[in-house]
Amino acid sequence: MSSRYLAKHVTGLKPSGIRKFFDIVATMDDVISLGIGEPDFTTPDSILEAGIHSLKAGETHYTSNAGIYELREAVVHHLQNLYDVSYDPASEIVITVGVSEALYLAMNAILEPGDEVIIPTPCFVSYQAEVILAGGLPVELPSRVEENFQLRPEKLEEAITPKTKAIFIGYPNNPTGAVASREVLLEVAKIAEKHNLVVISDEIYDRLVYGVAHVCFAALPRMKERTITLGGFSKNYAMTGWRVGYACAPADMLVGLNRIHQFTIMSAPTTAQIAAIEAVKNGEEQVEAMRSEYDRRRKLIVGGLNQLGMPTFEPKGAFYAFPSIIPSGMDDDTFSMKLLDEERVAVVPGSAFGAGGEGFVRCSYATAYEKIEEALERMERFMRRHG
Ligand SMILES: Cc1ncc(COP(=O)(O)O)c(C=O)c1O
Repeated sequence: MSSRYLAKHVTGLKPSGIRKFFDIVATMDDVISLGIGEPDFTTPDSILEAGIHSLKAGETHYTSNAGIYELREAVVHHLQNLYDVSYDPASEIVITVGVSEALYLAMNAILEPGDEVIIPTPCFVSYQAEVILAGGLPVELPSRVEENFQLRPEKLEEAITPKTKAIFIGYPNNPTGAVASREVLLEVAKIAEKHNLVVISDEIYDRLVYGVAHVCFAALPRMKERTITLGGFSKNYAMTGWRVGYACAPADMLVGLNRIHQFTIMSAPTTAQIAAIEAVKNGEEQVEAMRSEYDRRRKLIVGGLNQLGMPTFEPKGAFYAFPSIIPSGMDDDTFSMKLLDEERVAVVPGSAFGAGGEGFVRCSYATAYEKIEEALERMERFMRRHG
């Protein structure tokens, strides 16, 4: 980007490593993509029907800025039931255009120019960019496979400076599949309290966990008052294209997020909000059906990758495996390009997700079981040649 009309904080933004790669994939035939970070399932029928029905009934208008009250109430009940955390539907939740918008609101509502935000990495590609766009400074805190990609509290404390405003966590994690343990989160809570930090917790994959429980950060003792909880519908309910999510925070913080939302977005898409009411009220069976299919694929891909010589940490959440490509002797960019070129399998280089991602690739198992089987065969051939 070089236009003299663009602002420096925009020209300084690196393009997402994922997009760059998928522009190439889009020009190729016969590719099995393990690269996409979205469910392969279509949105469940009952949710689709709710959206369609609302359109036919003429519900084609704006909603209140913070979102349809019935949806806010339903999400708040849901969080109360699942995690025993209480938010007031009238003043502590805003319905957003996906968690993407919620990230933007959270950053812009709390950051002053030069404020630092500590981000455990590898992480979702937008976190650093959102901090920069809001005038802040992202400080990456790499996690390691040897520690099961858990955040290291002692490293977190070392990274804190007088400029630190917030910690930005995202578990279950994209791209590692790590789920934060309660013990580690309790340590993070202590540190946040000691240094008076805001915690932004992106919990978009909260329902996609395998054999472990998701811990909602705001539900930890005294944490609600300093936490912005982000959640959504894209992953749990296979609703990426509907563009709906939410942010919850204590009323004195939420009012700031809602103010920005009001002036930039007005209100999240009405049809999507109505479909989301159906999802959150009646979607449990469908969530469980998809979760259990992801689990079946998770076992296939983790077992398969380990067997073919790519050591793979056991992911306990989301729908990603994050194998090491060290045995290939290549770096993760070269590995991904060669694998695509020689075997037509798309994965995402780990370094696209920040410090600590080098030497790994992200393989999404939100794709059909049979396609994963075929991808594993192709990768085995590849590793026989290069391993
Ligand atoms: C961790 C994480 N947060 C947020 C998002 C954005 O989700 P949404 O579709 O709700 O904007 C994604 C999408 O990949 C993600 O992986």
